[in-house]
Amino acid sequence: MKVAVLGAAGGIGQALALLLKTQLPAGSQLSLYDIAPVTPGVAVDLSHIPTAVEVTGFGGEDPTPALEGADVVLISAGVARKPGMDRSDLFNINAGIVRNLIEKVAVTCPKALVGIITNPVNTTVAIAAEVLKKAGVYDKSRLFGVTTLDVIRSETFIAELKGVNVADVKLNVIGGHSGVTILPLLSQVEGVSFTDEEVASLTTRIQNAGTEVVEAKAGGGSATLSMGQAACRFGLSLVRGLQGEANVVECAYVDGGSEHAQFFAQPVLLGKNGVEQVLAYGEVSAFEANARDEMLATLQGDINIGVEFVK
Ligand SMILES: NC(=O)c1ccc[n+]([C@@H]2O[C@H](COP(=O)([O-])OP(=O)(O)OC[C@H]3O[C@@H](n4cnc5c(N)ncnc54)[C@H](O)[C@@H]3O)[C@@H](O)[C@H]2O)c1
Repeated sequence: MKVAVLGAAGGIGQALALLLKTQLPAGSQLSLYDIAPVTPGVAVDLSHIPTAVEVTGFGGEDPTPALEGADVVLISAGVARKPGMDRSDLFNINAGIVRNLIEKVAVTCPKALVGIITNPVNTTVAIAAEVLKKAGVYDKSRLFGVTTLDVIRSETFIAELKGVNVADVKLNVIGGHSGVTILPLLSQVEGVSFTDEEVASLTTRIQNAGTEVVEAKAGGGSATLSMGQAACRFGLSLVRGLQGEANVVECAYVDGGSEHAQFFAQPVLLGKNGVEQVLAYGEVSAFEANARDEMLATLQGDINIGVEFVK
């Protein structure tokens, strides 16, 4: 397996590359690209860690060498939030970066599974889809918005609140990856129950968890280490699916034929072609059904901005 990380010298990229170097299956290749000149050095640094994963690093303007033969491409290239910004404020810079990188993916590794981390994910994934369509290589089962951070935050916060083992907490987080579009399905968590007040406050905390980190870092960036862990979990799941492992399921923001929006985060079964099957997200409470319906205009607006940008 060859996994490429674009944006690999950044806060997320370096954390993700470290975790992949130590956790990818033996014999894998890890390919790092970033416009920052330090990138080949990041690869040399990682290459001293004794695992059977070969690391190469590329800087400069052209990601092509990093993308050649890639099975999985994870993209965190772009700028991150500062206090007072929401994810849509990143659009002007990050939209062009994602478009340019995906144009290279379309030419160099059109069959790769692509995970977009760069915010605003609700929009950058739509941009990627339009670029791939223009190039005539769009396969909706191979493109993912990485929303795993919303899932691991939910697992952590629920375990903290309820005093249960975090390893036992499982849930779907549906919708998108910004503010009200993030919807954790707390009613589906087995073995715990929540009061209405707890549902309301926990949902809000999960939706604003990114801002919690942005404010705590006080101008120094947004979530990088927890996002590195989330992206590693998702990237490894893509690899396990590609290698034929059964029952690999993750929530991700996909073009999955949802009745709600063209792109919608929901559980998907991963396999040799990316999305093998879009899974139903199950029964929801009245609170969740209402929150889902109320987010749709925001989510659709975010998607439209991406489509219009490429047009
Ligand atoms: N999906 C999520 O849950 C999630 C969570 C946190 C952050 N993010 C997003 O991830 C992105 C990266 O965050 P970060 O904290 O790593 O930022 P960062 O500034 O630390 O790193 C970004 C890196 O991208 C590189 N870069 C910029 N333009 C590039 C290009 N054209 N090609 C290749 N590399 C390029 C920069 O040199 C830098 O190293 C941001 O957009 C952030 O909002 C997403």
